[in-house]
Amino acid sequence: MSYAYIKVAVEDGVGVITLNRPKILNALNLQLMDELVSELERMDQDADIRAILLTGNDKAFAAGADINEMAEASAIEIMKRDQFAVWDRISLISKPIIGAVSGFVLGGGCELMMNCDIVIASETTVIGQPEVKLGVMPGAGGTQRLTRAVGLQKAMEMLLTGEPITAKEAARYGLVNRVVPVEAYYQEALKLAKQIAQQAPLAVQVIKKSVHKAQDLPLADALDYERNGFYLLLASDDRKEGMQAFLEKRTPRFTGN
Ligand code: CAA
Repeated sequence: MSYAYIKVAVEDGVGVITLNRPKILNALNLQLMDELVSELERMDQDADIRAILLTGNDKAFAAGADINEMAEASAIEIMKRDQFAVWDRISLISKPIIGAVSGFVLGGGCELMMNCDIVIASETTVIGQPEVKLGVMPGAGGTQRLTRAVGLQKAMEMLLTGEPITAKEAARYGLVNRVVPVEAYYQEALKLAKQIAQQAPLAVQVIKKSVHKAQDLPLADALDYERNGFYLLLASDDRKEGMQAFLEKRTPRFTGN
C-alpha cells in the first residue's frame, strides 16, 4: 500500500507508522488521518504485527489539525465532513500503540498522542492544546482525555491558556511515560514495542482493553470485565505454552492462539 502522508515499515513484529508531512510540522489533514487510521486497522488485522509504533520526526510529532483545511470552511461544511469520526476508530485498535514523540505535540497532535497506550518523549517535546488561541476548542478528545490524564486543574490551565508544557512536566503528570534525549526517544520506544511484541498477543490485547475499562466503567463492572478476560485467556494455547515454558525453564513460543 502506498500512502502520501505516512510511511510504513515492519521490524521484529512491530508495525511502524511515521507521520510524513515534515514541511508543515506533520499537520493532520483529512487525508493523513484517513491513511493513518486505515493503516492502523490493517496492522490490527495482520497476525505478523503484535505492537504498533507511531512516530513523527525530531521537530514535530504533529502540530495539530491542518489549519489551512479549516480556515475557510463553514461550520456546516465541517459538521458534514464529520472529520472526527475517523478518530473514534483509533480507540477500537486492539493492539498496543506506542508513541515515540518529539518536538511539537500540539492540538490534534496532543489528541493523537493521547490515543497511544504508552508514550516515550524526547527532551525537546512540547505538549499543548492551543486551540483557544485560534478562537476554537479541541474537537478530537482534548478536553476529555487531557482532563482524565492530568486532572482538572492542570487541564484547565493548559486548555484555557493554550500554553504548552515541557516533556518533563508532562511526565510528572503521567501524560508521557518517560523522557529521554532526542537521539534516543525513537530507539527507546522501538525497544519497548519489540518487548511487548514478544508477549502473548491475546493477553496483550485483553490487558489493553481491560486497562481502558478502568477509565470507562464503574469499578465493580471493570473488575467483572477483568475477571472474564482472565477466564478467557485460560482457554488460549498461549496460556498452556506460557505456563509450560515456565515449568520447563525455557522461553515461551507464543503463537497468538
Ligand atoms: N496547520 C497547518 N500548517 C501548519 C500548522 C497547522 N496546524 N502548524 C504549522 N504549520 C505550518 C506553518 O504554517 C509553516 O508553513 P509555511 O512554512 O508554509 O509558512 C510551517 O508549518 C512551519 O511552521 P512555523 O513557521 O510556524 O514554525 P515555528 O517553529 O515558527 O512555529 C508552531 C511552530 C509553534 C508549532 C507554529 O507553527 C504553530 O503555532 N502552529 C499551529 C499550532 C496549532 O494551533 N495547532 C492546533 C490546530 S487546531 C486543532 O488541532 C483542532 C483539533 O482539536 C483537532
